Amino acid sequence: MTLGFGVASSVVVIILAAPARTTDPITRNILPVEVVILPDARDGARLVADAITALVADRPDAVLGLATGSTPEPVYQELVRRQQAGAVDLSATTGFLLDEYVGLRPGHPASYRAVIDRQVIAPLGMTADRVSGPDGGAADLQAACRDYERRIAAAGGVDLQLLGLGADGHIGFNEPSSSLGSRTRLKTLTERTRHDNARFFDGDAAAVPQHVLTQGVGTILEASHIVLLAWGEAKAEAVARLVEGPITAMVPASALQLHPHATVVVDTPAASALALRDYYEAVFAAKPGWQGI
Ligand code: GLP
Repeated sequence: MTLGFGVASSVVVIILAAPARTTDPITRNILPVEVVILPDARDGARLVADAITALVADRPDAVLGLATGSTPEPVYQELVRRQQAGAVDLSATTGFLLDEYVGLRPGHPASYRAVIDRQVIAPLGMTADRVSGPDGGAADLQAACRDYERRIAAAGGVDLQLLGLGADGHIGFNEPSSSLGSRTRLKTLTERTRHDNARFFDGDAAAVPQHVLTQGVGTILEASHIVLLAWGEAKAEAVARLVEGPITAMVPASALQLHPHATVVVDTPAASALALRDYYEAVFAAKPGWQGI
């Protein structure tokens, strides 16, 4: 009973939260979740950098949703390369982080803010004040979450949200069983995620904080365009469940199936468990280049 109610209310919230662009998939002739399969992460990074370059050419002050983890690194490296070559200028963009650990000392090298400072803000010449993350060091964490939602709304929402994918199907730090209508809030990490992320804490899973603040699934779904990336065979099962499985809180990334403009960019190994892999490749091969992703 309780579970049934929770699932039903999540669906209602998602429908209400869907951006007012529901005709987009029809006019742009894309799949509900577009799957792009490329030989390797560098090809994927170039494609995603193309989308960000086009967005910023159109709107220099675009709002970018910034993900952390190993997966988006090739995209950031490609953007830095282009910025240095004068092919793009991201210095006027605004950024919002997806998530943050709770309780790390300010400036801790594994804090997501520190990672984004190193990989994105400094090399791209972004204004540090224009990049925000949930404040995992706040005395009042609930107030920090509400404030974060307000800041995203005040910026007019996220234009393009980059996402990685947890091996268990999480996005941001929305672990399995997260409400698909959730907003920014405190979450407890699973042991699997703490183990997976131990490599950023000198291999010590016990040093990975138990608690985090993360944008909710409902928050993430309000971005105008969502681009989820996954590289390597270790993500293949999660990719298949996200794209081809049922929409379920047990695979928070499956909520992307509800989004009018979600693109999943994967390398060949990460695509290996997709049943309709050949079809996705044929669709992308036949897509007019001007459509982009
Ligand atoms: C963490 C992050 C996620 C990220 C995931 C996968 O849990 N909170 O945003 O997608 O790790 O990380 P990686 O890209 O390193 O595989």
